Amino acid sequence: MLDWTDRHCRYFHRLITRHTRLYTEMVTTGALLHGDRPRHLDFNPEEHPLALQLGGSEPADLAACAKLAQDWGYDEVNLNCGCPSERVQRGAFGACLMNEAPLVADGVKAMRDVVDIPVTVKHRIGIDRIESYDFVRDFVGTVAEAGCEVFIVHARNAWLQGLSPKENRDIPPLRYEFVYRLKRDFPTLTIALNGGVGSDEQIAEHLRHVDGVMVGRQAYHEPWCMADWDARFFGDAPATPHDRAAIEALMVEYMAHQAPKGVAWAHVARHMLGLWNGMPGARRWRQVWSDHRLKGQPPHEVWRQAQRPAAQPSAALA
Ligand SMILES: Cc1cc2nc3c(=O)[nH]c(=O)nc-3n(C[C@H](O)[C@H](O)[C@H](O)COP(=O)(O)O)c2cc1C
Repeated sequence: MLDWTDRHCRYFHRLITRHTRLYTEMVTTGALLHGDRPRHLDFNPEEHPLALQLGGSEPADLAACAKLAQDWGYDEVNLNCGCPSERVQRGAFGACLMNEAPLVADGVKAMRDVVDIPVTVKHRIGIDRIESYDFVRDFVGTVAEAGCEVFIVHARNAWLQGLSPKENRDIPPLRYEFVYRLKRDFPTLTIALNGGVGSDEQIAEHLRHVDGVMVGRQAYHEPWCMADWDARFFGDAPATPHDRAAIEALMVEYMAHQAPKGVAWAHVARHMLGLWNGMPGARRWRQVWSDHRLKGQPPHEVWRQAQRPAAQPSAALA
């Protein structure tokens, strides 16, 4: 998720769940081919299994970027066919690619020709006012013929005109049945469902119909919701340590480690502000970790203040 799932966020999420696959923000082929590659591609070794999401449409560019992804150590390369933003539409990629299934198929084939890691596609169930299931079925069918075996389906349309990207994540209605039907029509493909999933019970229910579930906003805002996923959905013991305080301590170590590389603690801490949601003192804790007046302080000091809110009168924060 753009601006959210950077490497610091992913490092944090990986402390909560060992097995859940993590995805980068979308990176455009142009940014990778002409920009600062380490800035876009570097990640912490702890983040595996990790997928790089690409935004682009030109098969040769996609292939070059898929190769980069593999060489950099990613476990999967994912093509974005679901983003509705105007900027992305001007670049003729993202959700508007759903109108160009043969071009997506060419891109998938070009990528698969040069890498061994899985090439996957994330898409919507339709665009604009197309309400027919056949549209997404034909899209998946065409792209699968090019060798794509994994589809992550955001179960609502993208309306390319008149809605902001944010509205496009809420207003077009969710139609989970379309995603279930894809799995029935393409039983050999791996179909993952995305969109509006909030609880473990909902995940479990979807998993009766499809192979996987992708959780976006809920995982970001309420990161502790991932705490039981290793045990419940991957049949393993929970990640250790299995408690918020210990994870917070590990994040402080991480911040201290990042500081000499020029990463301000606030750039890391902003992703963990939901860690204590629902627990006593969460609001005060969040305020300390998002207090920009503390930006000159080392992370251990901010942590100390966040730990002992009662002992630290607010004047001490000034
Ligand atoms: C801030 C933000 C950034 C996003 N960036 C991306 C992105 O880069 N690539 C992508 O495929 N989807 C992106 N999305 C969409 C999510 O991946 C997901 O499809 C959508 O939020 C619906 O799932 P959810 O209800 O679980 O959040 C973004 C969503 C948000 C809120």
